[in-house]
Amino acid sequence: MIGTPLSANATKVMLLGSGELGKEVIIALQRLGVEVIAVDRYENAPGHQVAHHSYAIDMTNAEALKALVDEVKPHYIVPEIEALNTQALAEIEAAGVTVVPTVRAVQLTMNREGIRRLVAEELGLPTSPYAFARSEAELQAAIDGGIGYPCFIKPTMSSSGKGQSRITQASEVKAAWEYAASGGRVNQGVVIVEGQIDFDYEITLLTVRAKNAAGQVETYFCAPIGHLQQQGDYIESWQPQAMHPKALQNAQEVTKKVTDALGGQGVFGVELFVKGEQVWFSEVSPRPHDTGMVTMCTQRLNEFELHARAILGLPVDVAQREVGASAVIYGGADSNALTYHGLEAAMTVPNSEIRLFGKPESFVRRRMGVALATADNTALARERAKQAASLVTPKAAG
Ligand SMILES: Nc1ncnc2c1ncn2[C@@H]1O[C@H](COP(=O)(O)OP(=O)(O)O)[C@@H](O)[C@H]1O
Ligand SMILES: [Mg+2]
Repeated sequence: MIGTPLSANATKVMLLGSGELGKEVIIALQRLGVEVIAVDRYENAPGHQVAHHSYAIDMTNAEALKALVDEVKPHYIVPEIEALNTQALAEIEAAGVTVVPTVRAVQLTMNREGIRRLVAEELGLPTSPYAFARSEAELQAAIDGGIGYPCFIKPTMSSSGKGQSRITQASEVKAAWEYAASGGRVNQGVVIVEGQIDFDYEITLLTVRAKNAAGQVETYFCAPIGHLQQQGDYIESWQPQAMHPKALQNAQEVTKKVTDALGGQGVFGVELFVKGEQVWFSEVSPRPHDTGMVTMCTQRLNEFELHARAILGLPVDVAQREVGASAVIYGGADSNALTYHGLEAAMTVPNSEIRLFGKPESFVRRRMGVALATADNTALARERAKQAASLVTPKAAG
C-alpha cells in the first residue's frame, strides 16, 4: 500500500544522506508516488534537488536527528551514509519507525570492527587476516605477530579509502598509523590492519532481501559486478564479472550468511575478493553500492529501484538484461561552480550515457558524475564507459 504524496495518507521516506546514490533512490521512490524527505549535512546535495522536502542538518547530532524525525514523521528512514548518530536511530526505531535495513545492521557495518568480528569470529567465514590496534606500538606488534607485509591499514570508521594505506615495510608503519588515526570519523584512534589478499579479481555481489509473493523475506542475488579500485575508491565497474561457477556459489553462500545475520529488507553490497574457486569476505554496505551504479544500464530494475521496492515490501526482479560498465568522472578541480564540457563528444560513444550528480562543490578527487555504457561483452563496455568518461572535461569557472 502506498498513499498519495503531500496528503494526510502519504507514504513518507526520509533519506539520511542525499549524495548520488541517495538521489537515485529518491528518483525510484518518486516514481512510485512516495513522499520523500532528503537530508544531508549541506544544502543543495544531489538528492535535495529531486526530493519533495530537503533539510541540511548534522546527522551525527542526536538531538538534531530526533527533532527532525519528530517534525517530519517518516514511515521509513533510509541511511545512505555511515556517519550517523546510531543511538538516536535506535530510539527512533524503538518508537516504531522502520530504519533500513535495521539499526543493528547500520551499527555493525559502520564500524569495521563490528562487521569483521561478526563475519570472521561469529559466522566463521573467510576474511583476510586482521587485527585491531589502538596505538602505533600495537600496530607494529600485530604486523610482526603474523599479519606481515604487504598489509592494509584503515581507520575502523571510514569509507571511500579515507585514511587508508597499503604498506610493504616497517619504515612505513608510523606514517600509516598517523594517517589512519587522524583520517577516521567518530572513534579516532582505532585502526584495523589486514594482511593483503592476493586476489584474481574483486566483486560486489548486490543482494536483495525482499518479500516474495507469499509475503516472506527471500534473498535474491544480482549478477556479480567486477570493479577496479584506486586509492580505496572505485574508478570502474562492470556487470557481469565472469566467475568460475564454484566461486560464484561460494560467494553467494558467504553473502547469504552475512545478509541473514544483518537482517531487515533492502539491498546489500557485499564486497568479496576472489581467487580461483576461493572467496574472502571484505566488507558490506547495507544499502546500494557505488560500484552498483552500473546497474542503471544493465538491469531491468537498477539497485536503487530494487532498494525502493524491497523497503516498501514489494516484490523484486534482479534480472540482468544487458552487459555494461561504469566509469567515474572526477571533478579534477576545487570549485564552487564547475562547468562540464565535452558532453557532445562523450554522448557520441555508442550505447553510452552520462550522469552528472549536480554537486554544488567540486574537489580534484570528488566523484561528480559517471559514464555508463553497454556492449556485447564487458571488455567493450568498459572501453566505451572509460572513453565517454574521459571526454567529459569539468572546468573550474573563472
Ligand atoms: N586485505 C586486503 N587485501 C587486498 N586488497 C585490499 C584489502 N583491503 C582493501 N583492499 C583494496 O582496497 C579497496 C578498498 O578497501 P575497503 O576495505 O573496501 O575500503 P572502503 O571501505 O574505503 O571501500 C578494496 O576494494 C581492495 O581493492
Ligand atoms: Mg569498499
